Amino acid sequence: MTHPVVLSAGISPLGHIMLLARAPERILALRLAMSSVIGPETVVLDAGCGSLGVLAIMAARLGARRVVAVDTGELHAARALAEENGVADRVEFRQHDLADLPGTTGNFDVILGMIYHNEPRRDLARQQLMAGLATRFAHPGSAFIPDTVRYTVAGYDSADSQPSEPALHDRWDSAVGGAEALTGLTMAAIREFPSADYASVVEQLPQSLSPRPARFAGADGRALLTSREPFAEVRYADPETASGYPATVVLSVTAPGRLDTAVWRQDLKFGDLLIRRTDTSQPVTPPCDVQPGDTAILSTDGGWGDAIPLIIRHSDRA
Ligand SMILES: C[S@@+](CC[C@H](N)C(=O)[O-])C[C@H]1O[C@@H](n2cnc3c(N)ncnc32)[C@H](O)[C@@H]1O
Repeated sequence: MTHPVVLSAGISPLGHIMLLARAPERILALRLAMSSVIGPETVVLDAGCGSLGVLAIMAARLGARRVVAVDTGELHAARALAEENGVADRVEFRQHDLADLPGTTGNFDVILGMIYHNEPRRDLARQQLMAGLATRFAHPGSAFIPDTVRYTVAGYDSADSQPSEPALHDRWDSAVGGAEALTGLTMAAIREFPSADYASVVEQLPQSLSPRPARFAGADGRALLTSREPFAEVRYADPETASGYPATVVLSVTAPGRLDTAVWRQDLKFGDLLIRRTDTSQPVTPPCDVQPGDTAILSTDGGWGDAIPLIIRHSDRA
């Protein structure tokens, strides 16, 4: 007996416009990345093109010979926009699940995959989907946008609304890292935290590169208690890297407080270009009082549903 395929609604035209308006640096970075790899002979797959199909249409406007744009959601508006922009003859919109895309769809020089939920526990399936597309539809010279998805994590005290010294360091470090990614420059000469005198200025720096909706509240208003550690890095040139996550991540406690929240940072990159940085927070269980020198172990092994199991190893202190 065969079962009907249930297609998800995809992102609505309103949702898609909001995504573009909310994160202008994202679409500018994508435009820059796409213009560096798309030319007149290029064949492009836009995996998860969304109801407006904007990246597919931009790819065709950059001269791509053929663009296949796939989404489970409705694509009427995308087709109308392709027509309006004079590229309907080169963009083929398909309402289909990417997981079942027929092998006859072809080989692609560029695979666009802006399909993430922006948090690791929900993203693994999408990473594996992208890795499957890389294995089935890429050739050795194909470019992927993004080509790297990188997660780091740090522990916070959500009750402390006064930014702590480590939180200000983190904010400074994040702002410098964001400026490096946006400019393509390195900034080691100014990486060191300026000085406590600058704290009130640093406090005004955004936590992230762009305003975010509430569900990505991230580190705002929380006190950083631990080191920020790498958690996972997926590179589509090496699809094996999308096969899973480490079972635990070990953080060094750097400030005293009640560790109750983990904040994940997702960086979507193309080479040294940062397309999008997003912070998302998740409670840890049980919340624990910690001191510098302690070690916090987050367990992501299977059951990290609503809260991440936390183990603290206390340092030997008198
Ligand atoms: C956040 S939207 C991004 C749209 C567009 N890529 C952009 O960046 O402007 C992600 C889209 O991926 C689509 N998507 C996710 N998983 C998919 C799958 N398995 N097959 C087809 N489309 C999928 C969703 O329906 C949604 O419209």
